[in-house]
Amino acid sequence: MEPRGRGLIIVPAKDCGSLISRRFADFAMPRSAVSRPVRPSEAEGFLVRDSNGGAARAPETAFDDPRHFWREAFRTVRGETERRAAPLSAEDQVVQSMPDASPTKWHRAHVTWFFEEFLLRRFAPGYKPFDDRFAYLFNSYYIAAGPRHARAQRGLVTRPGAAEVTAYRAHVDRAVTALIESTNDFAALVPIVEIGLHHEQQHQELLLTDILHAFSLNATHPAYDPHWQWPNGAKASAAASAPVAGVHRIGHDGDGFCFDNERPAHDVLLAPVRLARTLVSNGEWLEFMADGGYATPTLWLSDGYAAVEAQGWSAPGYWRQIDGEWVSMTLGGLRRIDPAEPVCHVSYYEADAFARWAGKHLPSEAEWEVAACSGALADAFGIVWQWTRSAYAPYPGYRAAPGALGEYNGKFMVNQMVLRGSSLATPAGHARVSYRNFFYPTARWQFSGLRLAQFDD
Ligand SMILES: [Fe+2]
Repeated sequence: MEPRGRGLIIVPAKDCGSLISRRFADFAMPRSAVSRPVRPSEAEGFLVRDSNGGAARAPETAFDDPRHFWREAFRTVRGETERRAAPLSAEDQVVQSMPDASPTKWHRAHVTWFFEEFLLRRFAPGYKPFDDRFAYLFNSYYIAAGPRHARAQRGLVTRPGAAEVTAYRAHVDRAVTALIESTNDFAALVPIVEIGLHHEQQHQELLLTDILHAFSLNATHPAYDPHWQWPNGAKASAAASAPVAGVHRIGHDGDGFCFDNERPAHDVLLAPVRLARTLVSNGEWLEFMADGGYATPTLWLSDGYAAVEAQGWSAPGYWRQIDGEWVSMTLGGLRRIDPAEPVCHVSYYEADAFARWAGKHLPSEAEWEVAACSGALADAFGIVWQWTRSAYAPYPGYRAAPGALGEYNGKFMVNQMVLRGSSLATPAGHARVSYRNFFYPTARWQFSGLRLAQFDD
């Protein structure tokens, strides 16, 4: 991160970097059942943190011996997936509630296939796949890796069962661990292990968003975790950041891990703009609703209002009224809407209409990144992803990697919008200030909210 100094907020590269790592180190990751933080730090790789997000307690030897380090990182991330799946029965794990959402069992198997396909088949001589048929069942979208089961029909894969997927995971875990210990080509191995772990962390978040969608369609309102609580965030306020403006560098140009879509780092020119310090709250969203926000076509993009009409939207996703009171489906089951909490499960179209109603804008992803880097944003991470007005497009000079792994991000760079930050379901440390999440503008089942921006006159 290298703001160049013509902007109103000048943050030297080193300060920005230390700001971000300090924020993560001090970051009170919301204490909820959904996350035992696993923190990949740029300098240190994966660190295990305690359940309160407390001090790192990675063993000394992890840093002395890279093989030990990566074996522990692998064990920790793989364990987090199983911890998130543990409250779910075998029946819970097979359901697919819509084409965009995948069954828990599929997530557990797919991330395992990823290691089998991209690591073991290529680097482990004599590796015997657990079941050759699984490549077809659990390949997601990698055309270069071969034919695959239809995405919308993942819920039909009742075999293998959840227990067999557990055995599949154990088989691959043993093979990867042995490979890390024994390979003569360790340097070539590490980038694949690393992207496999970050990939698995992405699916850890999806595992929760997808089961929440499934549970939202169950009239008994199952709780993933009855003790789940919204994370504590900053109190909503009308305060805005100091203006950001001028030429700044965005994107990832450090040595640590990032996905290819965060590169290359490049300069952007920003008109003077102030970002809201806090996230838009449920209380503010109720005002928008009471003012007829969903019934006022002039507030909406054409495609957005078409979605309102087609989907019958009159409130955020998972909201419903019971006896005149608004409640929402959450990971803790059905909960009363708290006006002070950030609004969640809104689409890009809704976020855009709300911003127009408020007389403001959504920030661009560059504005968000520069403001976040300056430390001006409360709750930038760990509560809800924040929609930006930026279309998901390649950064100048972006090239996808050759081969099947080049399909990871690049081929999705059209028709979707960028979200920044991270959510309560994001494994701690998976987030970065340059991280680019992206979804279609109608998507509401992610933990997606917004903050506003206002241009200086
Ligand atoms: Fe995947």
